[in-house]
Amino acid sequence: MMRRMLVALSALALATAVAAAPPAAAPGAASALPGYSEADINAALQAAYAKYKNLEEGKNADYIPALAKVDPKIYGIALVTTDGKVYTAGDVGSEVSIQSISKVFTMAKVIEEQGPEAIASTIGVDATGMRFNSIVSIEFSQKALGGPEMNSLVNPGAIATTSMVKGASRDEVWKSILGYYSDFAGRPLSVDQEVFRSEAETNQRNQAIGYLMYAYGYIKANPMQATDVYTEQCSVSVNAKDLAMMAGTLANAGKNPVTGKQVMRPGNVPHVLAVMATAGLYDDTGKWLYRTGLPGKSGVGGGIIGVSPGKFGIAVVSPPLDEAGNSVRAQKAIADISNALGGNPLASTPR
Ligand code: DON
Repeated sequence: MMRRMLVALSALALATAVAAAPPAAAPGAASALPGYSEADINAALQAAYAKYKNLEEGKNADYIPALAKVDPKIYGIALVTTDGKVYTAGDVGSEVSIQSISKVFTMAKVIEEQGPEAIASTIGVDATGMRFNSIVSIEFSQKALGGPEMNSLVNPGAIATTSMVKGASRDEVWKSILGYYSDFAGRPLSVDQEVFRSEAETNQRNQAIGYLMYAYGYIKANPMQATDVYTEQCSVSVNAKDLAMMAGTLANAGKNPVTGKQVMRPGNVPHVLAVMATAGLYDDTGKWLYRTGLPGKSGVGGGIIGVSPGKFGIAVVSPPLDEAGNSVRAQKAIADISNALGGNPLASTPR
């Protein structure tokens, strides 16, 4: 009780700190999170924002030249509860490229179009334990494991997953992907053309991955088109609120909590969340799950999403990354906020 009061008081003290924050909620107003008021949620966001605002660890990704130029100070937090309330702190207007977070939603699309077995039997749903753009992981899966033992959240699996999206032409495939992401975000999204150009000029490694996946039959045709569409999907521009809405739709059994649109079948969502839980943060997925219990996904643009099923989707955008390629501030802020609000889906209380 005392802790709740302190949280509520600090919420009031911080209510004016950030212009992007929604109007301060009444301290006692109920929220979609059992046991936590709207003021508790705002306080948790504001506390994490303030705690990590001046943290200067990590470095922007620079293997895609355009990413090195993004302002490292961008720092936005958004949380969307399953009853459609949006909570924000910091800079939720600035956009970054979605990068690997896109992989979640293309996988979701293929699962919707072809069923969960299509992904499990074609790509696999196991962590590779290797870097996200590992070529060795393809060889290892093929030669040592003898089959599809990758997943849709690392580059080889992601490029193959993109190749599975239905459409009679590149244009049709692309429109279908972008439209699907937009349904998750609840607004029409678009591509950052500078990022797309920059990655398309420097993605020879992904082209090699695309060809190798074709050589082994994971991609059935046109590997260069698959790699190009994959590159374009990684260049979609998003802010923290868009990402939280996308995560919130997964948290709400596939129904966008703000627009009300059912974007994917409720029964398909757990398959998506399972792959996020095992492979969402590269080689550090285990550490992340240990600290938060949240299915998550990071991208080298600086975003991370987390999903607390039935409760909320959360996202933080902050470009500087750690050695593993995950945003430093985003990992810390999401862990603090989720743990402060009972977001860990692996935690329970004794009867
Ligand atoms: O293919 C790439 O390298 C980037 N477009 C995305 C990498 C990324 O965000 C990390 N993925 N797991």
